[in-house]
Amino acid sequence: MSARREELEPGSRQHTVLLERARAAMERAYAPYSGFRVGAALLGTDGSVTEGCNVENAAYPAGICAERGAIAAAIARGIRDFTTIVIATEAERPTPPCGMCRQVMMEFSADLEVVSVTRAGTSARWTMSDLLPEAFTPTSLGRP
Ligand code: THU
Repeated sequence: MSARREELEPGSRQHTVLLERARAAMERAYAPYSGFRVGAALLGTDGSVTEGCNVENAAYPAGICAERGAIAAAIARGIRDFTTIVIATEAERPTPPCGMCRQVMMEFSADLEVVSVTRAGTSARWTMSDLLPEAFTPTSLGRP
């Protein structure tokens, strides 16, 4: 599939697939401490979908968020360019990604589309520049 930068159409086949994959990953989340399960499905520019879920730990700070889990899994698959991440939770309102995940997502896709969907299907959508303006990026280090 060619690179796609337009918005993910709610109700489109791709939106449905990403939401299903994010919700399935959420079901596999390991969140015994917070009880707040999160799943993420990351769409690569190559059309691939990579999931992540939050994985908590008895040593609380060692836990990792769904979004960073998805990014790490995709990088391990050799995928580094992304168009959209869909985040699924059981919350009443769409939850934006945490600050650490914003920084990690920004590293790979400054124009990533971020969509967060509740249990009831209410969604919110942001771009990375909405979420992390004035970001410190590879170019800040003088890298291309
Ligand atoms: N969490 C995520 O997985 N993604 C976010 O963007 C926010 C928070 C997880 C971390 C922790 O396991 C639980 O949600 C409660 O903070």
